[in-house]
Amino acid sequence: DQYVLGMVGLGVMGRNLLLNMADHNFKVAGYDKDASKVEALSKEKVKGEVKGFTSLQEFIGSLSKPRAVMLLVPAGKIVDSAIAEITPLLDKGDLIIDGGNSHFMDTNRRAEELEAKGLHFFGMGVSGGEEGARNGPSMMPGGDPNAYKVVQPIFEAIAAKVNGEPCVTYIGPGSSGNFVKTVHNGIEYAIMQLIAETYEVMRKGLGLTGEQMHDTFRGWNEGRLQSFLVEITRDIFAYKEPGSSQLLLDSIKDEARSKGTGKWTSQVAMDLQLPITAIDTAVSMRDLSKYKAIRTQAAKLYADNGLKLSVDQAKFVQALEEALYFTTVIAYAQGMHLLSQASKEYGYNLQLANIALIWRGGCIIRSTFLQSIHNAYKKDNTLPHLLLDADIAAQMKGALSGMRQVVSTATATGISVPAFAASLSYFDALRSEHMPSNLIQAQRDFFGAHTYELIGKEGVFHTQWTKK
Ligand code: 6PG
Repeated sequence: DQYVLGMVGLGVMGRNLLLNMADHNFKVAGYDKDASKVEALSKEKVKGEVKGFTSLQEFIGSLSKPRAVMLLVPAGKIVDSAIAEITPLLDKGDLIIDGGNSHFMDTNRRAEELEAKGLHFFGMGVSGGEEGARNGPSMMPGGDPNAYKVVQPIFEAIAAKVNGEPCVTYIGPGSSGNFVKTVHNGIEYAIMQLIAETYEVMRKGLGLTGEQMHDTFRGWNEGRLQSFLVEITRDIFAYKEPGSSQLLLDSIKDEARSKGTGKWTSQVAMDLQLPITAIDTAVSMRDLSKYKAIRTQAAKLYADNGLKLSVDQAKFVQALEEALYFTTVIAYAQGMHLLSQASKEYGYNLQLANIALIWRGGCIIRSTFLQSIHNAYKKDNTLPHLLLDADIAAQMKGALSGMRQVVSTATATGISVPAFAASLSYFDALRSEHMPSNLIQAQRDFFGAHTYELIGKEGVFHTQWTKK
């Protein structure tokens, strides 16, 4: 019993996290049923010590107590079967950490079952992909705060660092870690969709070449739009396979896949009655992309004279920068709003300022803008909505004309910009003291006697709308 942490599942993520730990001089162990994965682990060069096992008994027996066992296996049933296999070998007080993208409801159930057995359970969101896992991910651990202390030094050491601060913090009780990671992914979906719409306008509306898009994104990545997703998009716009003169991007099928976290974000937001229109739209557009046969038929049926915009190219690219900035802020704002509502509803006690801090590095949605989000919640941790922050409002007002120009011009020309449009309309509704919802109430009362409330008068009212 000498290893401070054991990893179950030596796929790319599990292996890379383990190697990262070993590189930080933690003695760690890995387990996988697949002997070739254990073999591959032993061939890796690391500063510290890492040992692989194919025997679960020996693996568990090698861990120092209280044991910390981390799972990096595909979310869903496999997590349950891994837990079922290891729990009989554990002792009271040991800790199981699920590092996959598990549904927060599953985490609640597992935590309850394991706590009944005297074990601690952590659902920990890990973001940053393979590269992040190896060199510094952003991590979102949720569970019993005392149990966290055992593994805190390991996670702080291996996390990405921004200004020397580790991109990991205790998130809150129960399933809060998985919940926050799910919302992270929802924001990820939205920003990816917004960038894809920008690409659509550039390619179809402005006729920009890959090189021009590459240059534009390179410039943007040096400004307020600086972010991991803008940075990789810049590189995608320049990537050609060796020997090819064509962008790889141009030969990739336009049907997007997903593993569920975006959908879960939208589902839970609906349950909590908390609007996240940019994320919803992103999920829907991935789904629409899969109906290729219908789209192909509709393209013939509704063909028009092309989508070229008659605009000054340079000026319109400037407007696009404003639109992408504006809508990216909306995507983050909706995600943060959802977190604040879930925090109340589920008793997570989330510290939004800290969550923004640990998202600044290591994760997929890392960006310069997260510092502004941090500042806003640091100033006022009860801020009801990010767009109510004065500094952010000033930026948003400055980007509004470009935002409107992009949505109006693109839609007038027939270029689909659903997440742009949804974000802008959300904004316009949010800044409406009077929404047209009085009419909805009147209609509900008209056909179903659902009643309504009156301005300046207490009580609930019903009207016989049709005169006999
Ligand atoms: C991350 C990513 C990661 C995963 C995405 C992909 O934070 O590192 O979010 O968790 O790559 O969830 O999700 P889809 O397959 O649903 O696009």
